[in-house]
Order: sequence, then C-alpha cells, then structure tokens
Amino acid sequence: MIDKIKEHIARVEQFTASEMGEIEAFRIEYLGKKGVLNDFFAAFKSVPNTEKKEFGQVVNQLKDAAQDKVNALKEALEKKTVNKNIYGDLTRPAEPVALGSRHPISIVKNQIIDIFSRIGFNVSEGPEIEDDWHNFTALNLPEYHPARDMQDTFFIQTDPDILLRTHTSSVQVRYMEEHKPPIRTISPGRVYRNEAISARSHCFFHQVEGLYIDKGVSFADLKQTLQYFTTEMFGKSRIRLRPSYFPFTEPSAEVDVYWGLETETDYKMTKGTGWLEIMGCGMVDPNVLQNCGIDPKEYSGFAFGMGIDRIALLLHQIPDIRMLSENDVRFLGQFKSVL
Ligand code: DAH
Repeated sequence: MIDKIKEHIARVEQFTASEMGEIEAFRIEYLGKKGVLNDFFAAFKSVPNTEKKEFGQVVNQLKDAAQDKVNALKEALEKKTVNKNIYGDLTRPAEPVALGSRHPISIVKNQIIDIFSRIGFNVSEGPEIEDDWHNFTALNLPEYHPARDMQDTFFIQTDPDILLRTHTSSVQVRYMEEHKPPIRTISPGRVYRNEAISARSHCFFHQVEGLYIDKGVSFADLKQTLQYFTTEMFGKSRIRLRPSYFPFTEPSAEVDVYWGLETETDYKMTKGTGWLEIMGCGMVDPNVLQNCGIDPKEYSGFAFGMGIDRIALLLHQIPDIRMLSENDVRFLGQFKSVL
C-alpha cells in the first residue's frame, strides 16, 4: 500500500492544469470527502502496527503534496487572470498621456533649416567653447581691433585664447577650413555675450549663420536668397538692405523686412515704421576667404547671421526673452500645436 501512496505522490507532483475546473476536479479527487486521501486514512486501522508509523508519514506527505499543488495552481491561474484583465480589456478608458511640446527655439530653428535646405544648404555645427582664431582673428578682427568691442566676450579665465563663442560666424571659418567650394551651409547654435540680462537681451541666445561660396556669387544672389527666406518664413517678400559694418563682410548690410502696419501689434513691433530688422549680412571679405584657405581671386560668397530668439519672440508675440530659458511648463505647453 505504501508503494501505491508513493505512486500517488509522484502523480500529484507532476500534475498541471490551466483551468479552474481541472484544479477543482483534482482537489476533489484527492482532498474531497470521498477522495483518495480519506480512503487511505480509513485504511489506517487495518495497517499492521509495525508499518503504521511509515504509513502515516507517507499519507501525510501525499496530503501536503496535494494541498500545495492545489494552492500553487490556483495562485498561478489568478495571476494570469489579473494580467489578462489589465491588458485585455479594450473598453477600458485610455491612460491620460501627457504630451510634451517642442521648445519655441527649436520650432523656429527647424523652420529656418527646412527653408534653407530646400535651396541646397546643409547644416553644420561648431563648438561653443571656441578659440580666438575662429571667433575673431580669422574673421578679420585682429587683436586690438576696435570692432571686438561690438561683442562683449566671456573668456575662460585660465587661458585668454579660449572663450565662449560670441556668434556662430566662427562655424563659417571652421567650415571653410575643412571644405572646398562650392559651399552652401547654415550653422545654427547657441552663443554667449557678457551682457546684462533683461527682457530684451540675455547672456546666451541662439543664432543661425549662413554661408554661400562659389565662383561668381554676387550681391544680387544674396538679396534674392534673403527675399526667398523672408517670403517662406514670414510670408513677407518686401525687404530692404541698409548699409552697415561687419569686419568679416564687405560690403555689409542690415536686413529689414516690411512687416506692415495693419494692426496695433504691428505698430508696437515696428515702432510705427512698419519695418523690422531681422539680420546682418554681406559679401564675405576677401581677407576672411584668404584666412580660411580659399582663393578670393577665384571665389566669392555671401554670409548672413540672424538671432533665432528674436525671431521666436516676434513670431509668437513673447514679451520677455527670459521666458525662453525659464522652463516654465505653463509657457512651454502653449507651443503644443506648432509643428
Ligand atoms: N555675427 C554677426 C553678429 O553676431 C551677425 C552676422 C552679420 C553674421 C553679418 C554674418 C554677417 O555672417 O555676414 O552680430
């Protein structure tokens, strides 16, 4: 009889079931009133005294094995059902998903990249920690040149040759040093200036630099490119170029776009003139080409530089430049519907 019980133990241990009905049938078979165990307990009386001890032990072993098996199978099944309820109920209301939004600087930057990439400009980048050569000297701003004062510079104290770039024009130099014409590239990035922080200016902001170098590039090409840009970016095609000065371009100009005077905001934004200044530009100075290893007798080109933050403020009517770097989600969340 003991061997028979041991066979049952083996059978119980191997038993598996995946449905409640099967588990219940198994429980009744072993642990029920008329079950296998009760038969063995009833037979206990007729077991010879010498075997009683061992008999009792194996029967209890069988009882424990059957009980453990039933508990384990039930638990496994319950787990499965719970999981099924979570993932299987398609009528369940969806979890509220908090969607992020692009930063207004990224939105405007991507628009500018998109517009220029359509006319063959690629995107290039340079380091924010720059050396004097790329930020100033190569751009026709030799040491002690008064025009260096146009941009208040953050120097890295330990080394006066290393600074935070004051403009993305430094990427022009790097690009020309590494690539041969024809060159058509725009370089977006962050720049730094040692300026007092106010609603209108910050000690860091963003620019996009543009550079076009090839044989026979003229001022007319520059003007046409800028007009294409303002039309695509602002829906405004009327521009004017005012003579200006930049050490790295000759001639140089400031670009104004005619915004109009239709609304009160137009009046405010343009100070009643209808015109908005949006960037600086010019024909790349032959000295700069020379400094970057390009022969100015063979090649000519134009360059321009504009502030992304300023354009973002204009387009989205943002009253204070500091809002762009405060990371207030109530402000940032307002740009969800844009791009
Ligand atoms: N680097 C100038 C600035 O930060 C902007 C600029 C003006 C860039 C004229 C140019 C340019 O490439 O041709 O104010």
